[in-house]
Amino acid sequence: MTSSLSYDVLDLRHFSASALRPLLDAEAAIWSERLHWDYRASSRLLLQYLDNRLLPGYVAVENNQITGYTFCVYEETKAVIGDLFAVPALSATAESIQHTLLKHQLETLLNSPHIDRVESQMLLHPSGNYSELFVQAGFTLFRRLFLVQRLNPSMATIRVEMPSDLELRPWRDDDLSSAARLIAIAYRGHTDSAINDQYRTLHGSQRFLNNIVRYAGCGIFSQAASHVVVDRSRREVVALVLGSRVSAQSGHVTQLCVHPDYRRLGIARGLLNLAASHFVRLGANEISLTVTEANVDALDLYESEGYECRHTFDATVWQRPNTVS
Ligand SMILES: CC(C)(COP(=O)(O)OP(=O)(O)OC[C@H]1O[C@@H](n2cnc3c(N)ncnc32)[C@H](O)[C@@H]1OP(=O)(O)O)[C@@H](O)C(=O)NCCC(=O)NCCS
Repeated sequence: MTSSLSYDVLDLRHFSASALRPLLDAEAAIWSERLHWDYRASSRLLLQYLDNRLLPGYVAVENNQITGYTFCVYEETKAVIGDLFAVPALSATAESIQHTLLKHQLETLLNSPHIDRVESQMLLHPSGNYSELFVQAGFTLFRRLFLVQRLNPSMATIRVEMPSDLELRPWRDDDLSSAARLIAIAYRGHTDSAINDQYRTLHGSQRFLNNIVRYAGCGIFSQAASHVVVDRSRREVVALVLGSRVSAQSGHVTQLCVHPDYRRLGIARGLLNLAASHFVRLGANEISLTVTEANVDALDLYESEGYECRHTFDATVWQRPNTVS
């Protein structure tokens, strides 16, 4: 496909899971070192998809060795770039292989008439790494922060009080529809719904929640750390925190939101503390989450709770001109 490179860029679907396994193992080691994240559960899921030859993407191959890969998933007319990773090869650095693979992926997606939106949040790649490529291709970039709070055993006994008209209770599977309604309302006009268009609709929010809660889309869902606040008279979920286990030592908050009518009452702070206390009881010693830098209200909350920035990365969005965003 390419002429000036000393490695080939080939269609990912030509390769089996076993051919990709060494690369995924190398990637898992970096996830663990950089983010304290056990990537093996995600790798297993990915390997299944690879064996079914379901994922569109590219690999870099030099001397019969796969040195890099990228893939995306389609959601109707949207493509989400799922990952991009390379190891150093004889003729190129990991960064330059990643650059080439990403360039191919973007060219393919932007020239696919059935795709009108492309999103990516490549957590492993520091903010700014591929910004030039994305900007040249017409993407908008949003800087995001990976924050971490150290947990200590005294947090296990935290008590959280709610006003009497609100019930605080653990997450139940049948909360999904009401929680999806909350997400669509909480993120109306919010920067994060410019980044992830699932937040804009009920259907999209349901899909987002399904992925988190049922399909281990972001670590292994922890029912114990996940709670909802229900308005007793309206019988609607008006706030929630969702947590996942991303490694033996780390919990991750995958969602925190409060209905606009119930804000500035200390509900989010209470939910965050509750998730932290359950993660301590589950044996974790830190809790992480991601936040968009422009989301200053949430950032204020996290900083006041002692969260610190360990890493920054970019969320990127492209919308085909003259299609609804
Ligand atoms: C961010 C959010 C969860 C805060 O919920 P909340 O229940 O209103 O937050 P709390 O009442 O517990 O406030 C805790 C702290 O957050 C900060 N904060 C929250 N809202 C703020 C605002 N509008 N302006 C300034 N600071 C704000 C303050 O530091 C506040 O402490 P204080 O009240 O003692 O000053 C809520 O605004 C929300 O759902 N936003 C949309 C979804 C979202 O951004 N989620 C986080 C994604 S990472």
